[in-house]
Amino acid sequence: MLPIKNPQFVNCYVDLRKLPEELKPEIALVGRSNVGKSSLINRVCKRKKLAKSSSTPGKTRTINFYDMDGSWYFVDLPGYGYAKVSKEEQARWGRIIERYLKNRQQLKGVIFLIDIRHEPGNNDRQMKDWLTHCELPVLVVATKADKLSRAQTLKQLAVIRKSLGLPFDPIPFSAETGLGEKEVAEALEEILNLETVPRNTGEG
Ligand code: GTP
Ligand code: MG
Repeated sequence: MLPIKNPQFVNCYVDLRKLPEELKPEIALVGRSNVGKSSLINRVCKRKKLAKSSSTPGKTRTINFYDMDGSWYFVDLPGYGYAKVSKEEQARWGRIIERYLKNRQQLKGVIFLIDIRHEPGNNDRQMKDWLTHCELPVLVVATKADKLSRAQTLKQLAVIRKSLGLPFDPIPFSAETGLGEKEVAEALEEILNLETVPRNTGEG
């Protein structure tokens, strides 16, 4: 399924009821606003502008679907923790993201992004707990690793691991240099190849 030859933007959604009905596998990206979700999609797809990235946080404000050679979807979710978005709007999106993660049958796994330079915040820990609750395969990626030295990188990986209570270090990743790209691709491949049983979403 990788490398991806022909990635295509499909659509952006604000309403979960409008999401594609077909049963193609989906991999979603979650993390703080500005952490590098859209940039990771571009790196994995080897395209500069497939997903719109921006130095202004809060760029992705919808659920964006990208078709990966017709075999699976990358799903870019709105980032959390952006102060300029009103509390109400943040809470509303929080509920939509939770519902998507908990109930979406097509969802096969999640890439959870953390900025390597910072200790995870409360909302990151909350996301970690929520993902654990959802019982999905989760790949934790530490973004913007090009901004740190090798020694600082190792130190920060341990900080993030401890703070989130992870069994492994996150994958150090850089959308700029391609560091970690191979590891992310391998993990995606593994998740997409998993034999999955229908999710118990507590519904129906
Ligand atoms: P929202 O859509 O606001 O939730 O943000 P996002 O998580 O999609 O982040 P985005 O990919 O738009 O990146 C935010 C900023 O960080 C942009 O200016 C990117 O160029 C920059 N950035 C992302 N990844 C990296 C990286 O690996 N290294 C460096 N140096 N900058 C990065
Ligand atoms: Mg984005």
